[in-house]
Amino acid sequence: MVQAVRGTFDILPTEARLWQAIEGELRAVFGAYGFGEIRTPVFEATELFVRSVGEETDIVSKEMYTFSDRDGSTSLTLRPEGTAPVVRSYIEHRLSDESRMIKLYYIGPMFRRERPQKGRFRQFHQAGVEVLSGNDNPAIEAETIEMLALVLARLGVTGYELLINSIGCGECRPAFLGRLRAEIGQQSAALCADCRRRGEKNPLRVFDCKVPSCQPVIAALPTVTSSLCRACEVHFARFRQYLDERGLPYRVDERLVRGLDYYMRTTFEVVSGSLGAQDTLAAGGRYDGLAEDLEGPPTKGFGFAMGLERLMLSIPDPGVLAPERGPDYFLATHGDEAFRLATGLARKLRAAGQAVYIDFDGRSLKSQMRLAGKLKASRVVILGEDEVRSGKLTVRDMQTREQGEWTEDELLAGIPADLQGSRGSG
Ligand code: HAM
Repeated sequence: MVQAVRGTFDILPTEARLWQAIEGELRAVFGAYGFGEIRTPVFEATELFVRSVGEETDIVSKEMYTFSDRDGSTSLTLRPEGTAPVVRSYIEHRLSDESRMIKLYYIGPMFRRERPQKGRFRQFHQAGVEVLSGNDNPAIEAETIEMLALVLARLGVTGYELLINSIGCGECRPAFLGRLRAEIGQQSAALCADCRRRGEKNPLRVFDCKVPSCQPVIAALPTVTSSLCRACEVHFARFRQYLDERGLPYRVDERLVRGLDYYMRTTFEVVSGSLGAQDTLAAGGRYDGLAEDLEGPPTKGFGFAMGLERLMLSIPDPGVLAPERGPDYFLATHGDEAFRLATGLARKLRAAGQAVYIDFDGRSLKSQMRLAGKLKASRVVILGEDEVRSGKLTVRDMQTREQGEWTEDELLAGIPADLQGSRGSG
């Protein structure tokens, strides 16, 4: 039997309701902060990720689903993340606008060939936001993190920690990387082959190494945070001040370098103790210059992405977000003529926005009533031989157990009142 591929999963209707509810909350909050949705393709030219995320990163060197197009002309990659595609689209469509910030959000699947475990999949979903502008004011960072905190509060997520760091800029990082490279060179005998190679090519990536025997060496390496230039120090201090002013608690983690090369200055992660080993719920940072690296206009960038599977695991009472609801009407019929009338009534009720279940299995009225109860229908309309003859419908409210006889017109006329506070078109 063919099964879902390792590291992927289906979202079945009961869970999909929850996903929709969560996505609804995200869209509402992102919208309130002025973000508009962008939808980019799930595959891109491989080069996009090599040039932005970075050749030496785990994502690009080990985890991408890359394939060549059938005619062999292009190397394509299923997107492992959303920032590079958004910046690509921003450049391609000339979205840059000197008079305002461009605020974009996306919700969708990403693909990384990682070892699957709790909270880690090969197809997973991110909700991400990107702020693109000519302005690198750290207040943008604090406001974006405030928005993330609001999303988490609205979903009832508590018990998480905000970790922040600054990884410097084009001014201070090169000197630091030189120091780091020299240090790694001295310790190379104690390091794994990956670390030795990275030490040469992209020494900051050494901090991503998970090999246990490398950890003591890595722990003793100097941190970029301690060698920031004056401008980066000021930026970081103002960022912290803006977080303080907003009452957003945080902890500075000098080893937070993030596994993507496009970051500079501010980086952050939201970690949650409830998640186990894969404890990063959301992560992001500043990426000024990424647009220029991809041949776009000078642009300052800041954003984050949140793993939706991990978000789902952190919500204490997900059922509350999407309470189970049965159909508004269950049409129980007996006989062919009744069934024919019922199909017409079902069409009219559905056109008026009511959710209708109609039984096609020809069961007895009694077992249809039982099914209506099981499906948690709000009302049952009974159409038996008597009803066909009299032209009246027996309508039972399943909650109050009240029952009355209505004509079809009366029933349909009653709908506007019913609709208030009900599911609308859902
Ligand atoms: P990232 O840290 O690679 O950043 O991923 C962001 C989040 O996606 C993680 O914190 C985690 O919640 C989730 N995630 C990543 N990999 C997996 C996986 N295999 N299974 C389940 N969840 C996963 C980025 O992707 C950046 N583009 C974030 C960003 C946006 N930076 C600036 N703007």
